[in-house]
Amino acid sequence: MAKQSRRTSGGARALAGDYYTSSAIFAQEMQQLFSGRWLCTVHQSTLSQPGSHALYELAPTKPGAEPVPSESVLIVRGEDGEIRAFYNVCRHRGARLRQVGGQLPGNCIRCPYHAWTFALDGRLLGAPNMGDVAGFDRSEHPLIPVATAIWEGFVFINLAPAPVPFEQAFASVLGSFTAWQIPRLVVARQVTYEVAANWKLLFQNYSECYHCPTIHPALNQLTPYLGADNDHESGEILGGPMQIQQPEGSMTESGHLCGPALVSGAERMRVYYYTLFPNMFLSLHPDYVLVHRLDPLAIDRTRVVCEWLFDPGYREQAGANPEEAVWFWDRVNREDWQVCELAQQGVRSRGYLPGMYSELESTTAAFDRAYLEALEGAAR
Ligand code: FES
Ligand SMILES: [Fe+2]
Repeated sequence: MAKQSRRTSGGARALAGDYYTSSAIFAQEMQQLFSGRWLCTVHQSTLSQPGSHALYELAPTKPGAEPVPSESVLIVRGEDGEIRAFYNVCRHRGARLRQVGGQLPGNCIRCPYHAWTFALDGRLLGAPNMGDVAGFDRSEHPLIPVATAIWEGFVFINLAPAPVPFEQAFASVLGSFTAWQIPRLVVARQVTYEVAANWKLLFQNYSECYHCPTIHPALNQLTPYLGADNDHESGEILGGPMQIQQPEGSMTESGHLCGPALVSGAERMRVYYYTLFPNMFLSLHPDYVLVHRLDPLAIDRTRVVCEWLFDPGYREQAGANPEEAVWFWDRVNREDWQVCELAQQGVRSRGYLPGMYSELESTTAAFDRAYLEALEGAAR
């Protein structure tokens, strides 16, 4: 949502239309970008006890759609409290193990096909009628693990066989947000959107506030669009703060805090907006943290899972009402999705030629550079 920068956009132009319309590029992105980077999945508070699990679906293929590299990953909290991830694939004949997240019955993962049963740590516990099969050893058939990392309470996965260490990939923000104590927050609300636009259009849109006076009059009153700055101006993590106009203000329907304050001092007068390539927006407010997770569904469709995280004490605090933040951002989100969809409609036209970025779109230009470097670097 934020940002102008003191850096200039250097005469950069928007991306060519193919990047928003080519199924071949989409397949390349899923294979080379999403399958080899750390992807935000869920906040740990949503996996509250052993057997709590969630699914992460990468580019789920719809009937009739062109096939792209797709995956389903099962993220589960074990008996020991650890959160692990596994390919959602049975070790017998490959059936999808779980269709939806929730609480696993019996605290085990039971295949719906022939009832092979796996422990929460992936070990194969039981395989009916396999006991007398020569050479069959249960210990050799655990679920296939997927790399995980937990940062600020968010569970990240990486599908690469030997991923870049998370601490290296996220080095520029490690420790930056400890003031908000995000690991102890809880998800007060989740809203899922499906947007008829390419995932990069959503990144580009979140990265600038050039559109705020026209598209978001309510937001622009609380945080005027010229009061933005960047503390991450290049690379795969981009963004920075915007100034809140009113003391004790926040991005809510009333313009005031709607839950217990998470931070003090100067942070009470700022909202921080970051894009974390390739699937997360992180928006830090004085009284809540908003996360957008982007799941590309197709070249021209993106699912967005939005979560509002609050201090768990909000339930007891008189007057606290997370819905004030949900109403506010739900409207801003819908305003954004509408213009992203308009952009998607335009970029597929023969009349589309990449236009020049303004100085207020320097972070959008920086996103494009990081994206192209990632895509071209992966192709080398
Ligand atoms: S495919 Fe899972 S038990 Fe047969
Ligand atoms: Fe916006």
